[in-house]
Amino acid sequence: MSDPPGAATFRTPAEAYDRHIGRYGRELARALIDAAGLRPGQNAIDVGCGPGALTSGLVALLGADGVAAVDPSPPFVDACRRRLPGVHVEVAAAEALPFEDASFDCAFAQLVVNFMTDPLAGAREMHRVTRPGGTVAAAVWDYAGEMTLLRRFWDAAVALDRSAGDRDEGRCMRFCTPGELEDLWSTAGLADVSVSSVVVAASYDDFEDLWRPLESGVGPSGAYATSLPSERRAALKAELGRRLGVGSEPFALTARAWLATGRSAR
Ligand SMILES: C[S@@+](CC[C@H](N)C(=O)[O-])C[C@H]1O[C@@H](n2cnc3c(N)ncnc32)[C@H](O)[C@@H]1O
Repeated sequence: MSDPPGAATFRTPAEAYDRHIGRYGRELARALIDAAGLRPGQNAIDVGCGPGALTSGLVALLGADGVAAVDPSPPFVDACRRRLPGVHVEVAAAEALPFEDASFDCAFAQLVVNFMTDPLAGAREMHRVTRPGGTVAAAVWDYAGEMTLLRRFWDAAVALDRSAGDRDEGRCMRFCTPGELEDLWSTAGLADVSVSSVVVAASYDDFEDLWRPLESGVGPSGAYATSLPSERRAALKAELGRRLGVGSEPFALTARAWLATGRSAR
């Protein structure tokens, strides 16, 4: 099976990710941990941990001993290990988790299922490593609607270049509607599946602060921006700034995500 759009765009330095999507990660993690009902004394795995936004929320609740994390991106795994000493962090993909059956009370995937090569295999693996009665939880952006940063980015890109429509994450990402996410969790054999939504926010010093990480090619949006020759990239930057209505002053953006939870029913 071929990689979905953008999965290879996370081999960038962790700091670029931190300043792009990572800005939203900690608040989103708190909402996902709450939705899963995770409690002190339990243990959990963070699948597709990236540089560790959700992992650090898990460590705050469970301690490093209670947390494992995996990601296929070596620079993100290095960053997660460096930032969270004592956490077991491995280079691995969701589709083949290097853990025994029923190892965890909860398995999480924050902003990951739409990047998996085989999302159903990944969801089934998350289910397999979760104990009976435990919880499997995921968050996915509302790419087509209220994830403001990415929505405005792709609207600007498509306004200047109709062919960018094929790369618009609101069109090409799977599982970014509540129904599709619910189906994935149910098909993976989970019980009591529920999907809710949360709106999180990130603040920026100015528009340059938002644009700079895109120049490192991080994520599908950064990969698209850096694929453009300099004149077209400058035009995209100007169009995005215009659509966001921001410039040299500090500002904040909101982003909606869908949160799916299900109970391991094995
Ligand atoms: C948008 S980032 C989310 C990172 C982190 N969970 C967070 O909330 O900041 C997507 C992550 O999914 C990872 N990823 C891509 N394909 C994957 C797969 N098949 N299994 C697990 N993780 C994958 C990427 O390497 C990247 O770290």
